[in-house]
Amino acid sequence: MEKDEEFLKAYLQDRKKLVEEALQGFLAPYRNGSSEIYKAVHYSVFAGGKRIRPILCLAAVDAAGGNLAPAIPVACALELIHTYSLIHDDLPAMDNDDFRRGKPTSHKVFGEALAILAGDALLTEAFVLLSRTGKIMLPAEKRLSVIREIAYAAGISGMVGGQVLDILSENMNSNENILSEIHRRKTGALIVASVKAGAIVSGAGKNKTLALSRYGLNLGLAFQIADDILNVTGDSAIMGKKTGSDVARGKLTYPSVLGMDAARQKLQYHVDEAIASLTAFDERARPLRVIARYIENRQE
Ligand code: IPE
Ligand code: IPE
Ligand code: MG
Ligand code: MG
Repeated sequence: MEKDEEFLKAYLQDRKKLVEEALQGFLAPYRNGSSEIYKAVHYSVFAGGKRIRPILCLAAVDAAGGNLAPAIPVACALELIHTYSLIHDDLPAMDNDDFRRGKPTSHKVFGEALAILAGDALLTEAFVLLSRTGKIMLPAEKRLSVIREIAYAAGISGMVGGQVLDILSENMNSNENILSEIHRRKTGALIVASVKAGAIVSGAGKNKTLALSRYGLNLGLAFQIADDILNVTGDSAIMGKKTGSDVARGKLTYPSVLGMDAARQKLQYHVDEAIASLTAFDERARPLRVIARYIENRQE
């Protein structure tokens, strides 16, 4: 069997290509006259993200033995929502960042008004895509479950609520419980929704869906702990965004609250837990397993 490293590289490349082609196709009808909003949306969607959420959705479909085709629009919708969250996260009123995905942030290029509207457009269009009939082969009931899962994860209980806590907690004393709640909501929720959406599309049973949710919960937290660590130790040229900014803004992060060694231990713990959640799955869960290790060791 090929080594994990080679398998991961080929898998990520292949799935990224699938997602990016579908994203191009979805955005194409909006190109008319190359309006400013199309340019702004296109700029951020194709600025060079890792596509980890859509890839996780597709990897969950693989693990559950489902059909990839109906999962592709779902995967794309997750990336649109994620991209919206980054555009808004970088705004001067929020983290005030100038670089993202190796390029100037949306508001630096298009101005704040267009950046806000590009985020609004991406969030809204994600639900256009999810609710589309015809090409998507998901039956209405499953489609509704996927929409509910993703909307819930993106809203007050999930990402938006987490972002609010993240902003309100700047320069505050805190503890690990509040910190893990922020991370589970601002970043973890959409990652859980990504794998759960894959489970729903595949018609996975209750136990497998629960196991995939546990995987997502642990991986989502691990993903943000890694982001916190990289903000201190990472190479901004590789990551395509500024480092050192969390300390500068007084953000609550794993390294700032627990120290770097404990942060690394937590990262490893949650990656191990994510992988341990998959014991009931066969070799088809290999992508989910190798992606978890990749998150632990990621440099970008
Ligand atoms: C960055 O997410 C923001 C977080 C939630 C940590 P990613 O690291 O997935 O960013 P892209 O999509 O690859 O740019
Ligand atoms: C991003 O969190 C979370 C969301 C965008 C929802 P951060 O603010 O910590 O991520 P980066 O470091 O800017 O990518
Ligand atoms: Mg932020
Ligand atoms: Mg930020």
